[in-house]
Amino acid sequence: MDRSVRKIEHIKHALTTNQFGVNGFDDVSFLPNSLPNTSFHHVSLQTEMGKFHLSSPILINAMTGGAKQTTETNRKLAVIAREKGLAMAVGSQMAALKDPSVSESYRVVRVENPRGILFANVGAEATVDQAKAAVDMLEADGLQIHLNVMQELLMPEGDRDFRGYVDRIQSISEQVDVPVMVKEVGFGMARNTVLELIQAGVSLIDVGGRGGTNFAKVENLRRSSPLTMFEEWGLTTVESLLEASCVRTSDVAYVATGGIRHGLDVAKALAMGASAVGIAGAMLRCVQSQPLDDCLRAVDGWQHQLRVAMTALGAHKIADLREQSLFITGATAERARLRGIA
Ligand code: FNR
Repeated sequence: MDRSVRKIEHIKHALTTNQFGVNGFDDVSFLPNSLPNTSFHHVSLQTEMGKFHLSSPILINAMTGGAKQTTETNRKLAVIAREKGLAMAVGSQMAALKDPSVSESYRVVRVENPRGILFANVGAEATVDQAKAAVDMLEADGLQIHLNVMQELLMPEGDRDFRGYVDRIQSISEQVDVPVMVKEVGFGMARNTVLELIQAGVSLIDVGGRGGTNFAKVENLRRSSPLTMFEEWGLTTVESLLEASCVRTSDVAYVATGGIRHGLDVAKALAMGASAVGIAGAMLRCVQSQPLDDCLRAVDGWQHQLRVAMTALGAHKIADLREQSLFITGATAERARLRGIA
């Protein structure tokens, strides 16, 4: 199938499947603080994500590009990133590396947001030269490498050979001039994967958990014989953060993406050790169905909710969220216990 047709189908099906599944955040709650000694207007949303200094912990995560019709979507996302000071990633650039005529659908994000923090995006099958070309295409500040094994296996025309990923990720990390972030696309990461990535020299990891855009469902909608038994494959975003917490080192920054619904989910993810939180499907839904001003207000809303949580908890800055006590209950607590996580 033509890649650009697939890009359009992904957007269509991502918008028609349920927006949110079980992301695990409803099993997490903060211990309240009735004497927080904070002021709402003095709470700071600035955060460090590896070497990146971000004015907000919310990142517009990788989605699209690669078909002429996606240029306008990327343009709108880039305007939101620029106006709200959010870091942003583009969708996989493998399409433009094979067909330069569609590179404008990605380049538009740099044109709209000349000074913003932008991530290029390739698959783990990319060569070092392709990774460098993807970065150059956007004058990107960082590079994402996405992992999506289950999606590829369910995609009728997807990859079937996943050998050599770690070696290629290591070579790219060593030879590309910008920081590399490895990300899942919604199936989550177990601690062994996190550990292997760290050993390969990766310093930014997006655990990309289950609970939001579900690529097993998206691909099943594109199949004549859906493999529905794989639709709950993987770990939720919260379970993935718990897994990552077992191997946390000071050299790695985590991003939590997958089913983030509002600012309270953002606060919980940050409290669980994430340095930033990615939102993809909800942003796409907004730019595809609402005027840009409403999407800008939606970002304000998420940030407002995060500030409310931080003020109530006595957290003046994002790092203070990590000092908070959390209750973890329900299926998440049970699965964490089985994995030996206290
Ligand atoms: C994605 N995502 C994605 N990720 C990636 O690294 N490269 C890509 O090309 C794409 N393409 C893509 C298309 C569409 C239409 C969507 C909705 C998403 C995955 C995305 O970055 C994110 O990891 C997941 O969508 C989970 O986050 P949400 O949607 O639950 O917030």
